[in-house]
Amino acid sequence: VSELSLEQKAALLSGNDFHTTKPLASEGIQALALCDGPHGVRFADPEAGPEGWATTAAPATCFPPACGVANSWDVEVAQSVGAAIGREARAYGVSVSLGPAVNIKRSPLCGRNFEYWSEDPLLTGVLATAHTEGLQGEGVGASVKHFAANNQETDRMRVSAEVDERTLREIYLPAFERIVTQARPATVMAAYNKVNGVHACESPWLLTTVLRDEWGFEGVVVSDWGGVLDRVAALRAGLDLAMPGDGGLGDARVVEAVKAGELDESYVNASVERLRALARLAAPATGELDVDGHHALARSAAGDCIVLLKNDASTLPLAAAARVAVIGEFAVEARYQGGGSSHLNASRVDVPLDELRRLSTGVIEHARGFVSDGSGEAAALVAEAVQLAASSDVAVVFAGLAEQDESEGFDRTTLSLPQGQVDLIRAVAAAARRTVVVLSHGGVVTLEEWHNDVDAIVDGFLLGQAGGGALADVLFGHVNPSGRLSETIPLRLQDNPSWLNFPGEEGRVRYGEGILVGYRYYETADAAVRYPFGHGLSYTTFETTDVTARLTADDAAEISMIVTNTGARAGKHVVQIYVATDAGKVRRPRRELRAFTKVALEPGESRTLTLGLDRRAFAHWSTEFQRWVVAGGEYRLQVCDNASAVLAEVPLTLTGEVLAGQLTIDSTVEEWFTHPTVAEALLRGLGADDDTVAAGAGDWLPMVGSMSMRRFATFAGLELSPQLLEDLMALSAPKAQA
Ligand code: BGC
Repeated sequence: VSELSLEQKAALLSGNDFHTTKPLASEGIQALALCDGPHGVRFADPEAGPEGWATTAAPATCFPPACGVANSWDVEVAQSVGAAIGREARAYGVSVSLGPAVNIKRSPLCGRNFEYWSEDPLLTGVLATAHTEGLQGEGVGASVKHFAANNQETDRMRVSAEVDERTLREIYLPAFERIVTQARPATVMAAYNKVNGVHACESPWLLTTVLRDEWGFEGVVVSDWGGVLDRVAALRAGLDLAMPGDGGLGDARVVEAVKAGELDESYVNASVERLRALARLAAPATGELDVDGHHALARSAAGDCIVLLKNDASTLPLAAAARVAVIGEFAVEARYQGGGSSHLNASRVDVPLDELRRLSTGVIEHARGFVSDGSGEAAALVAEAVQLAASSDVAVVFAGLAEQDESEGFDRTTLSLPQGQVDLIRAVAAAARRTVVVLSHGGVVTLEEWHNDVDAIVDGFLLGQAGGGALADVLFGHVNPSGRLSETIPLRLQDNPSWLNFPGEEGRVRYGEGILVGYRYYETADAAVRYPFGHGLSYTTFETTDVTARLTADDAAEISMIVTNTGARAGKHVVQIYVATDAGKVRRPRRELRAFTKVALEPGESRTLTLGLDRRAFAHWSTEFQRWVVAGGEYRLQVCDNASAVLAEVPLTLTGEVLAGQLTIDSTVEEWFTHPTVAEALLRGLGADDDTVAAGAGDWLPMVGSMSMRRFATFAGLELSPQLLEDLMALSAPKAQA
């Protein structure tokens, strides 16, 4: 590094163009191609520039986006999709795939929820870690994004996410933390937005203290595209690579700042070293695009993602010989991916109607029912659909949101389906013997206007290019649905905990609900929802028995159970383990997902499963102590069918830690009189006898507990000498922690 000129070094730290970095032949540094991401490769023509990116992207397999894969609750699905994207990236000579995107679904309105995984950090973190490992196992770097608290599109380049530290640590950071510490991603992408007033791209706390010092990240921090406003502040904060290129303006600013003594050159050197290491990923295009093989993989993955929400009177699966009225535009023009930077040029797209016909031995007819751009004669389209439905055994309506309804760049304002589709579903349901609704959408939609009119609901979210085939597989029972909701389907938008504070105003969005995001809120508040987080039906039945749990250390445990497939079809079951507790001084959600696994069972087959829960499963973030703390007390390990339905629970008592904080003269009376190493000495100092000491602080404590010692010491003639207090403060210094 020292032999490079300052100008050369500064230049290496910004993009060459939209998707590539700069080479430096004398140093053996090759240019890297960084392409979106996250659910396939969007290899854009370098000549086309930003405008042409979507249309000129080379063909690639469009795998189910994260909103779909998350519903699989299956690490193998996430891993195999990541690996396939890695192979396609290599075939195009792409060195870094810009994903996974692991921001938490704080509001169901976020325009990029299709690209994000879940409202739960554990589900997000575990699956996205598997995706990253799959991708990087093929020699392609990941770019975990958008770090951090990028949970909305409204004002995304500027808005300040105002989030307290416990909420950041427990909800918005853990997925990043897990991926960074377990999968060691090549890069992390810093978000556009501010976090508590500081641009993520310029935040030393995020990019250095947390990411590098605490989590040990050694890779490159890259900016979101156009996210850097101040190159000097960004470099100092720990951001290495500003993307895309800006024609050299930022590089010149870096040179000037070093020369003026404003920026220490060591920051530049450290970033160049990291970039040099990243550049080793550069490789010529190798291997072929396995179009057929990856389409088949996309289909089987999509099959694992589909959620059967409702299935009254075993309406599904359809009999092969059934006379089926297939209704809806999305049956002939599949809705399968989201809009914006992740939008790619799919190598092939299944038409659901064709796939249904391939599996049918009966009659399948189609009526369009609606046109998503609003054109066409709505009444005539509905009338045609109703007529077809009335003369069929069953009507299957393909409804959902069109691409223009949701995308990167803006948030939705409603959870409803377009009114024309609501009217269509209700009219069809009134005429048909049985009605099935198949949903395609990125963000969650409300079902309330029509839920009770229909017999079955299959929720695909977005399933990628082979979603049509996968839906046909599930509808005809070739695949037994096993997806589980990775986010709550609320009754109303207003029920969502972020509703009062979304999307913020005047450049700020207050995360007022704190850690009570998604089901953590609905369960704690006992608020009704349509379908809870973790819900999903199957064509078979499962039973969970013999649940036992034991401590494996002071603050770690394992839980075992037997799961049996009690029905007549092979199927997959998701085991969900939640922890419930009131231990500790902080408010806890009613329960939190702490472990999960998915198991495939033949009819009648039983399997004993054991899941581990590490210390973190019981811990909360203490802002006072600036670390993860396990409070002593009672914990319940709950095996749940979903976030609302507990199948069995086992109590455990954890010793936890005795938290002894440093007392100051402004600590409260309660803190003084309950302090584990000070309380007794304090009482003795006040002249208490042995009985009083044994009984501890008296009945008066609740009354004056919140008073500071500064006031209390001189209150009502108490004799607490300044020297005694000094000695006791010294005694309180935190040393004896378990
Ligand atoms: C998006 C990123 C994406 C980048 C490059 C940005 O607008 O926020 O997710 O990776 O563009 O296309």
